[in-house]
Amino acid sequence: MQLELINKSTDKTKADILVSFITKEDIEKNKEAKLLNQAGFKAEQDTLCFLHEKALLACGIEKLDAASIRSAAAAAVKALKSSNYTSAKTQLSDMRFVNALVEGFVLGGYDFNFYRSEPKKVALETIFLACEGANFAEFEAAFNEAMVVAQATCFTRDIVNKAPQEINPETLALFAKKLAFENSLECTILDEEGLKKENMNAMLAVGRASVHQSQLIHLSYKPANPKKIITLVGKGLTYDSGGLSLKAPTSMVTMKMDKAGACGVLGMIKAASELKLDIEVHVFIGAVENMVGGNAYKPDDILVSRSKTTIEVRNTDAEGRLVLADVLDYAQEKVQADYIFDFATLTGACMVALGQYTTGVMGHSNALKHRFFDAANSSGELIGSLPFNNHLKKLLKSEIADISNVSSKPYGGAITAGLFLDKFIKEENKEKWLHFDIAGSAYTEAAWDCNVYGATGAGVRLMCSFLKSID
Ligand code: BES
Ligand code: ZN
Ligand code: ZN
Repeated sequence: MQLELINKSTDKTKADILVSFITKEDIEKNKEAKLLNQAGFKAEQDTLCFLHEKALLACGIEKLDAASIRSAAAAAVKALKSSNYTSAKTQLSDMRFVNALVEGFVLGGYDFNFYRSEPKKVALETIFLACEGANFAEFEAAFNEAMVVAQATCFTRDIVNKAPQEINPETLALFAKKLAFENSLECTILDEEGLKKENMNAMLAVGRASVHQSQLIHLSYKPANPKKIITLVGKGLTYDSGGLSLKAPTSMVTMKMDKAGACGVLGMIKAASELKLDIEVHVFIGAVENMVGGNAYKPDDILVSRSKTTIEVRNTDAEGRLVLADVLDYAQEKVQADYIFDFATLTGACMVALGQYTTGVMGHSNALKHRFFDAANSSGELIGSLPFNNHLKKLLKSEIADISNVSSKPYGGAITAGLFLDKFIKEENKEKWLHFDIAGSAYTEAAWDCNVYGATGAGVRLMCSFLKSID
């Protein structure tokens, strides 16, 4: 299915059906008000009404705002994809809705068909956004940008959705290499030999029982005169079985998505390079598989991390923070960035705190967090702040090493995980760093907003909004 912007009025645009977004208040103003009433259409959010004889698909929206349109467009595209219409059109006359329509149609219409023996048959070929007016060029620029971001989000979703027998640390590194080649990015990859030379013993311990070699992936996008330098770190657990602290069977299912932070940062650098932003972007990924075996790392092990901080392992399922500890330390040494952001499916506790739709944001700089609240508003992603405090920090004390990899108390687990990472952020970088826990927001087993079953691509739209806001 293609989305096309055309410089024509809706009337002059040839398509099988017109998609119309309607609020309760506006039903009466509609040309087909009588028929819509007869059909029982009340314009409730995400409800749809096909008037086939009139070639109209009415889509209910609660308010005329971007969030309502994005969600309704997602509902519309799903219905259109299961119809026999080959083309549809809708009117675009408000700049505020360019992103919402692109996200709704592209992200809501996303399907992951990779493993089907027969791909779903879809008649729908094109949705036209009819946009006539003197300022078409402005709309076109916004549309093209929104398409780049939406496609980068789908790129992220595709990799996260792939099965763990296919995506392991080595093949994830190949994906990164391919992206680097296609988008002219610099690319450095360290295998286990390289990781040993760097003393990345915490990361190496997590991957030791895997048959695949852990990989550290570094991609960079370097425009000529960057306004800022940004480091993005991604948790790339291609599978998280829990290790010897083995997950329960039902909790293990979906753990292919533990690489969503890594795939997210790949989507972000893809978008940044395609949007040709004047911002230098560095991506660092710790790609590791957390497995069981005779050589697996154990609860009670003491790890000497790259930064020399010693870590008491009390739970091998709290592995993401061990990987990130070493990758964050490496990233801070390699690049003097203005901002450091990490993305990780780090804790189930984040979902308990914020629900499964919201990304948890942690860090020391309230000003920086506020800039992300703005970026979230304009991107359609949901974020919520989880505040650090010294009482929770004390719960990571170890009797035998510098820090324990889990908290001694059961509450505030997303924050204590964030505070664990904080231990590996250098003093001069404290105010530059934010941690994003995408455990809930990265993957869904029920469609919501413009997200369909599986990976959501969490972080990509958010980060693109933030990057575009930098001046
Ligand atoms: N990858 C998980 C976190 C997770 C859980 C992501 C559910 C998405 C959905 C992480 O490695 C983990 O297992 N965390 C533990 C930490 C605990 C042992 C302190 C958790 O959340 O239970
Ligand atoms: Zn785990
Ligand atoms: Zn994990």
